[in-house]
Amino acid sequence: MPPDLAISPDFSLRDVNTFGIDARARAYLKLTRVEQLAQVMADPVLAALPRLLLGGGSNIVLTGDFDGLVLHMGIEGREVLGEQGGSVLVRAGAGENWHGFVQWTLAQGLGGLENMALIPGTVGASPIQNIGAYGAEVKDLFHSLTVVELASGRLRVMNAAACRFGYRDSVFKHAEGAGLVIVDVTFALPRAWAPNLKYAELAQEVAAAGLASPTAQQVSDAVVAIRRRKLPDPARIGNAGSFFKNPVVGGAQCAALLAAHPALVHHAQGDGSEKLAAGWLIDQCGWKGRSLGAAGVYEKQALVLVNRGGASGAEVLALARAIQADVLARFGVALETEPVFV
Ligand code: FAD
Ligand code: EPU
Repeated sequence: MPPDLAISPDFSLRDVNTFGIDARARAYLKLTRVEQLAQVMADPVLAALPRLLLGGGSNIVLTGDFDGLVLHMGIEGREVLGEQGGSVLVRAGAGENWHGFVQWTLAQGLGGLENMALIPGTVGASPIQNIGAYGAEVKDLFHSLTVVELASGRLRVMNAAACRFGYRDSVFKHAEGAGLVIVDVTFALPRAWAPNLKYAELAQEVAAAGLASPTAQQVSDAVVAIRRRKLPDPARIGNAGSFFKNPVVGGAQCAALLAAHPALVHHAQGDGSEKLAAGWLIDQCGWKGRSLGAAGVYEKQALVLVNRGGASGAEVLALARAIQADVLARFGVALETEPVFV
């Protein structure tokens, strides 16, 4: 084994997943340099192990021990690359903390990412599910990323089209994306910035603060304030953010649901389909604040499942299945899970 691969055997993953699930990995390696990936693949024992690429562990559910090698992304670095067609290109290593990176761009005088402040996790994972919040998604500011193809060791640059971004989706969540490790991401931030206040709750927060012309930093502060009120801090209560995607249904199904449930929360998608608020559906089924074993539904946001202390992956899954069954029975809507199950 190459001497600079400091592999830890039988490693507890409890402190590296925000759900705080206590599963163990057969082997663990912190990645700080791109070259380490080639060294792993050149070692016949390591290369043969199943692999889990881990960022901040804020969008995974560990359903049991992982009998393989965890590669924990820790490649750092951030730089302003220069101007390109009215935008400023900025690049960060995949292991950079997302919120820290957003705050760094704001400190450079560059707006664009502020609506996505305080989303947990790493820069490298941000394209995986095309993270989004408060009216913005990563794809809106994305320029390109670099991957290492593990099988060949080749570095490849991918643009937005190659990433196939969708709502909480990208090529990296599908078979074609397996074996690709994102090592850095480049964003194109607008030189001429204007606030994006199309999310009603954010517009209200900014107005309530008396800000007629907010700066990008002030928008970020407003987003942080909303998120702190509504979402559990993983450092205190284990969770993975929204546990289900907001379901998209056809216009006719939405109209039928509205006739039966006039308070249904829905947003037209512009193509005749409607996005429903999964949190509202779960809330209506009476799940908010309830628990099954040590897994529970957060008191302030029914879309977030939480670890009430010592929950296993199996307990979290049992709760998720019970919620899915109730929502299907009451509304005829199938909820799809959002985090990655390991
Ligand atoms: P991980 O959980 O470590 O990994 C997620 C997946 O990406 C895994 O399949 C992993 O193998 C893969 N992966 C990670 N890094 C790489 C890499 N470098 N190359 C290839 N594959 C990789 N998400 C939103 O979109 N919007 C929100 O508003 C939001 N709010 C949240 C609030 C809370 C309190 C929490 C706990 C989570 C929230 N999330 C939200 C989900 C989560 O923060 C994001 O999905 C985040 O991008 C996950 O990053 P991570 O580094 O923790 O990824
Ligand atoms: N609602 C309820 N009861 C609840 C929760 C929500 O009635 O318990 C209603 C709210 O009143 C509101 C609607 O549902 O009318 C939507 O709620 P909210 O604004 O909190 O947003 P969300 O749809 O639940 C989505 C994302 C979040 C993102 C926020 C803000 C998904 C799956 N979730 O949540 O992303 O931060 O919007 O943009 O799209 C994540 O992906 O992990 C995540 C946290």
